[in-house]
Amino acid sequence: MIITCALCKKVYDIPEERLRLQGSSVAFYCQACGNLIEIKLPGKGADGPPPKDSLVSGDALKKRILMTVEDLPPMPQVAQKARQVIANERSSFRDLARIIETDQAIATRVLKMANSSYYGLVSKVTSIQHAAALLGMKTLNDLLIFACAGTLLEQELLGYGLMTGDLWKHSLATAGCARSLAAKKRPHITDDAFTTGLIHDCGKIILDPYIAERHDRFMAFLEPEGTSFLDAEKELLGFDHAEIASEVCRKWHIPENMTLAIQAHHKPSLAGGDELAHIVHAADAIALMTGIGSGIDGMKYEIDVAVMESLELNSNEIGLHMASALEFVEEALELY
Ligand SMILES: [Fe+2]
Ligand SMILES: [Fe+2]
Repeated sequence: MIITCALCKKVYDIPEERLRLQGSSVAFYCQACGNLIEIKLPGKGADGPPPKDSLVSGDALKKRILMTVEDLPPMPQVAQKARQVIANERSSFRDLARIIETDQAIATRVLKMANSSYYGLVSKVTSIQHAAALLGMKTLNDLLIFACAGTLLEQELLGYGLMTGDLWKHSLATAGCARSLAAKKRPHITDDAFTTGLIHDCGKIILDPYIAERHDRFMAFLEPEGTSFLDAEKELLGFDHAEIASEVCRKWHIPENMTLAIQAHHKPSLAGGDELAHIVHAADAIALMTGIGSGIDGMKYEIDVAVMESLELNSNEIGLHMASALEFVEEALELY
């Protein structure tokens, strides 16, 4: 069944059998603009639209969110496929270009970045294949991850009180910090640390419309000093952005080590002694300390003591990683 968002005109193609599992009517939030889309299914009883989910929380809300997410084109798929192509020694520049060109908006952005002064190419590149040949597969893949993540993370998140670009800056700070931390402490996971840092808060994009709808309740919950958005998510929705992100990442076939690190980024004990989870947790907390793109509760998170010990981190080093995160954000924004 083709469903079009009345507000932004985004089109969803959802199998009718699945819609019917939900009853005589279906309601979900448009992932592009957050509008509540309600449809009455033809041939079903006239028992009115489903109740708005303002009172729903816990498993019922999670089920509804996951159902909506399932119908999204999995945006990072192009990045995932590119990862597989690069991992295959027999792949050519052409194979990589073919994958990237499946998404024209992303391909255009990649080309734009490849042509930026940062890479200092003498002549302008006009095709992805040409860019791959000049910059190499690894650099092109970095640009691709950037382009994918930026498209997703740039948007304004009204529920969280984040302006356009805030989450992107925080994600860049976390990625830059995860990379510098990993390079120093766990060099073999530097690339994964960077990518995971970049997408660690993708759950916020998913939850934002549901938080926006419960704006008054969230604001009332956040009033007492010391309460954070994370506490509010758990209390008012029944789960937090890290938990929903991990479920979505599994649907999107993000590698399990990265999914686990995303799931545990606010509670590293969930991941046992996993080193990627430790790096991403510390990088997120350090990025929040910089105050960049942190929103209203940036200063309410600390580095877990067990993570401080396992990474042998001290306050001097934290200062240095904060500085390198800030430097990276500046550099990345210029490039992007
Ligand atoms: Fe987070
Ligand atoms: Fe974060």
